[in-house]
Amino acid sequence: MKVLIVGSGAREHAIVRALMRDENVTGIECAPGNAGIAGDVTTLPLDVTDTQAIAALALERGVDLVVIGPEAPLVAGAADAIRAAGIACFGPSAQAARLEGSKAFAKEVMAEAGVPTAMALVCTDGDQIDGALDTFTRPGTPYVVKDDGLAGGKGVVVTDDRAVAVAHARACLAGGSAVVMEEFLDGPEVSLFAITDGTCVVPLQPAQDFKRAHDDDAGPNTGGMGAYSPLPWAPADVVDDVTARVLQPMIDAMAARGTPFVGLLYAGLAMTSRGIRVVEFNARFGDPETQVVLARLQSGLGGLMMAAATGHLETHPAPVWSSDAAVTVVIAAQGYPESPRTGDVIAGLGDAAASAGVDILHAGTRVQDDGSIAASGGRVLSVTAVGDTLHQARERAYTAVDLIILEGSHHRRDIALAAATQE
Ligand SMILES: Nc1ncnc2c1ncn2[C@@H]1O[C@H](COP(=O)(O)OP(=O)(O)O)[C@@H](O)[C@H]1O
Ligand SMILES: [Mg+2]
Repeated sequence: MKVLIVGSGAREHAIVRALMRDENVTGIECAPGNAGIAGDVTTLPLDVTDTQAIAALALERGVDLVVIGPEAPLVAGAADAIRAAGIACFGPSAQAARLEGSKAFAKEVMAEAGVPTAMALVCTDGDQIDGALDTFTRPGTPYVVKDDGLAGGKGVVVTDDRAVAVAHARACLAGGSAVVMEEFLDGPEVSLFAITDGTCVVPLQPAQDFKRAHDDDAGPNTGGMGAYSPLPWAPADVVDDVTARVLQPMIDAMAARGTPFVGLLYAGLAMTSRGIRVVEFNARFGDPETQVVLARLQSGLGGLMMAAATGHLETHPAPVWSSDAAVTVVIAAQGYPESPRTGDVIAGLGDAAASAGVDILHAGTRVQDDGSIAASGGRVLSVTAVGDTLHQARERAYTAVDLIILEGSHHRRDIALAAATQE
């Protein structure tokens, strides 16, 4: 089987590495990729926002399966274009990707499917903002204001300051057509991914990510600064429970609407004092959780994705998981997330990659004319390690992180720390 992966982050690098371990996959190409991916497989230039160009590249390369990493091409209809060209695609249609592309739509389907989530109101007019905020005013709990559409991780504001909440709501309406206000959910967050062919749901392993830039959840929101799996503190039945109460009902509801969801459904969950609630859905693998989830996958990823893309998941063998723990630490460029500085050369990658249990996954990197590797984006590397315990995986990951030199870069020191202490 020959596979084309579309995207350029550490998520795509993790997918490439997992496919490299699958003996059924005979060819792997990635577009556009990054410096690390180019060290592993053939990379090809591509504008990932151009859905026709993606389909044309898949045809030209003669691949059997296309895997779409990021959300923007999915929402724009890349999977539809690829399937129209007669090629199997791991990724939802534009209609199904609306579960990520519109938070109001996701709320509508959750209501239909009876899936537990935060109470919410959708505003389409500035006059509705104050009333909606009043509805969710509770002493001691912040306002939650969400841009309806894709916002690259910058669409959600959680704030005690009513003026800030109103200003964000107005900005969302000015830039789009709707804003979602919802009740505040307390409790730790869990990410659970499921692979689905539109009918059958195969959950993967749960993970937790760290969204804030600095230790102790200080600083601005980011695309994600680290992750770990498994979650020693989570209830033993969390995967079965979320599959039965969240993932399967959503997949059933999408099928009943005539817009089956094929690919990866990501449930972002809050474990509140009143039970599990969905925070959001994504229509693709999450970054950085994918790095730790796939580090623990022992069976082939290619076959699983192909079975989902072609509607044969029911008869495909279930994934096999290692009992290892995995931790990933993101090294970010100076100034990330506000204004990342690019162009600095990265040293120590070889030594870091040679350390025990470690995988250096690249995100924003590129090869310079002199052959050196330089930072080319905000999140630069995702240093991933496995170990017998979270404690060991953390030690290994941070040993490798400390071998990497990137001027001005920053990373969190507390990824998986609390969970490793509880282990
Ligand atoms: N109802 C809520 N209560 C508390 N925190 C929330 C709520 N909704 C979102 N958040 C916080 O904001 C983050 C981003 O929100 P999310 O819905 O995941 O949007 P996106 O990932 O598209 O930015 C979540 O990971 C969570 O930490
Ligand atoms: Mg999110």
